[in-house]
Amino acid sequence: MLTDKLNRPLHDLRISVTDRCNFRCTYCMPEEIFGDKYRFLPKPQIMTFEEITRSARIMAGLGVSKLRITGGEPLLRHDLHRLIEQLAQIDGIDDIAMTTNAYFLKNQVADLKAAGLQRVTISLDSLDNEAFRKMNGGKADVAQVLEGVYAAQKAGLNPIKINAVVQKGVNDHTITEMARFCRDNGIILRFIEYMDVGTRNGWRLDHVVSAKEIRDRIHAVFPIEPIDPNYYGEVAERYRYVDGAGEVGIIASVTQPFCGTCTRMRLSPEGQLYTCLFATKGTSLRDPMRAGASDDQLRELIAGIWSNRDDRYSEIRGAQTLIGVDDIPTQEEKRIEMYYIGG
Ligand code: GTP
Ligand code: 5AD
Ligand code: SF4
Ligand code: SF4
Repeated sequence: MLTDKLNRPLHDLRISVTDRCNFRCTYCMPEEIFGDKYRFLPKPQIMTFEEITRSARIMAGLGVSKLRITGGEPLLRHDLHRLIEQLAQIDGIDDIAMTTNAYFLKNQVADLKAAGLQRVTISLDSLDNEAFRKMNGGKADVAQVLEGVYAAQKAGLNPIKINAVVQKGVNDHTITEMARFCRDNGIILRFIEYMDVGTRNGWRLDHVVSAKEIRDRIHAVFPIEPIDPNYYGEVAERYRYVDGAGEVGIIASVTQPFCGTCTRMRLSPEGQLYTCLFATKGTSLRDPMRAGASDDQLRELIAGIWSNRDDRYSEIRGAQTLIGVDDIPTQEEKRIEMYYIGG
């Protein structure tokens, strides 16, 4: 089995299919930077569906069994269901999920399901319309996202998960309201600690609401108790509602990093492979592919990248935060951006 320097197997591939998004979440693609003049990747640089599928097939041969489609906003990629169709045919892939803001989901959900998409995770930071609009740069209302949520439920893309990034003073007053809504509607809600990804969101530790705080706030209204992970390396800590009304998760990347079990490889829209969400450097798969490399050569390249991997950014960052070191010894200005690699 292929493992990295810290003995972690390669198990998941997260595929970002576009760097574009129709939202301007302040923590991800702030409008001031991603305005009308911002230049996104030109089409010829972006991996074709055939190139993505080929990459995924080779990685399936190296141990990947789980795929997640991300963006930017993946539904902005024209005919995305055609990619899903190709990915679904790869031997060894048993889980295909997608992370989306759901704005365009209603119209595409039937094609995606028919193509083989198994489940979706929808990003929705608050049910309070004012707070939500503030976070997404004024691009959408809660009701538009909920239409996508209901369409996904109807199409059977289960289990439906909702991801909410929690920012202190911005949406943390709506935690229990979100918990209530998701309990009532059979949705698995996961709160995410606000992370210092990328270089453009002006992250500060005092903007983070800790997992402990989130847990305490939910527990005060809806008593919860911890349950076991679904699988090795699951990023969310799971809790069940004591009254039996389903589960809720918390992703504590800041206060309880989970690098020790990180089995995720990431493929960027233009075919760079990254071994960490906080990487400063990737390796192009597209370039050798377009230069005529064989499957064996590409397999060797990928295996080499994974076996040399020693990333554990969040753990290192966490230790530094605890001892009061503000800055980190990586080149922050070069870190990849979340909108580009999709979380
Ligand atoms: P499931 O397959 O449904 O279990 O998905 P998941 O739990 O892996 O969660 P998802 O892919 O929806 O990721 C949720 C969020 O967790 C992301 O948006 C990121 O904020 C964070 N996250 C996921 N993977 C990593 C990772 O490798 N490192 C860090 N630091 N954060 C991550
Ligand atoms: N911290 C935590 N999660 C983030 N996401 C984007 N930026 C951040 C951040 N700074 C999440 C979004 C979405 C997924 C694509 O990544 O909420 O669920
Ligand atoms: Fe778009 Fe998701 Fe980034 Fe928001 S967090 S700007 S929805 S990619
Ligand atoms: Fe994996 Fe890097 Fe996230 Fe750690 S910080 S869990 S190594 S992607």
